Amino acid sequence: MQVRSHAKINWALRILGKRPDGYHDLETLFQTISLHDTLTIRESDEWRLTCDDPSIPTDESNLILQAARALGVPPVEIELTKRIPAEGGLGGGSSNAAATLVALAQMFGVDERALHQIALSIGSDVPFFLVGGTAYATGRGEDLVSLPPAPEIPLLLLFPEERVATPAAFRMIRRYSQPAGVEAFDDALRGDLLAHRELLRNDFEAHVFESIPRLGQLKRRVEESGAAWAGMTGSGSTIVGAYRSAADRDAAAASFSDVRTQSAETTA
Ligand code: C5P
Repeated sequence: MQVRSHAKINWALRILGKRPDGYHDLETLFQTISLHDTLTIRESDEWRLTCDDPSIPTDESNLILQAARALGVPPVEIELTKRIPAEGGLGGGSSNAAATLVALAQMFGVDERALHQIALSIGSDVPFFLVGGTAYATGRGEDLVSLPPAPEIPLLLLFPEERVATPAAFRMIRRYSQPAGVEAFDDALRGDLLAHRELLRNDFEAHVFESIPRLGQLKRRVEESGAAWAGMTGSGSTIVGAYRSAADRDAAAASFSDVRTQSAETTA
């Protein structure tokens, strides 16, 4: 069985407060995009994970194996073709975990309603990837409401070499935001989404840009390149530009020779 495991971006991310369990309550607008990894799954006598990218750990620390184990199904062999950069704020590991849960549940006849809780036990972003598309999320990111889709928006992704570890990014937060509310995002999606600059902001940016100024400079360059909207996704370090047309996006891509770029589109 072969399945795609898509990346996400966050159109907006507000951090609302710290919780007694150590996590943060947040409000985010998740969006799946065309960039994806591929998982090839075969029944096997023993658990085995392989990956074409040698920098990705294939031991029990990999969320694919954690997800498979948590589901409690017989062993399988999984081959991962990696295209989503690790620790880039694109949810690659979380997406892989969700894709594993869905595929194995189908293979072994597990009730899909059991997956949400298992997904959350693997990571805060994993439940979103069970749903995908454009979704408003609160709590740790697991309280999800699907909103009107925003498909085929041309994106340019910048992958700076600087990496940001998510727990460290959360530790930088000193002030908390008020939520914008689901209606604000629902309205924006029914209109000109990319024009909502104040709504589509990410609370991590100010702190991360202060500690890694190059990321803030790259965001400004994306804005100057003709993007209708630019922002950092998740806790970074990927910087995203959204353009009015693929031609605008392709023209902009040519001006980023000093950083790895990737074209993509939003998906429904
Ligand atoms: O849930 P996940 O394992 O992806 O979270 C990684 C880390 O990010 C957590 O250990 C926590 O430090 C932080 N986090 C948080 N609040 C969230 C999600 C993640 O503080 N809602």
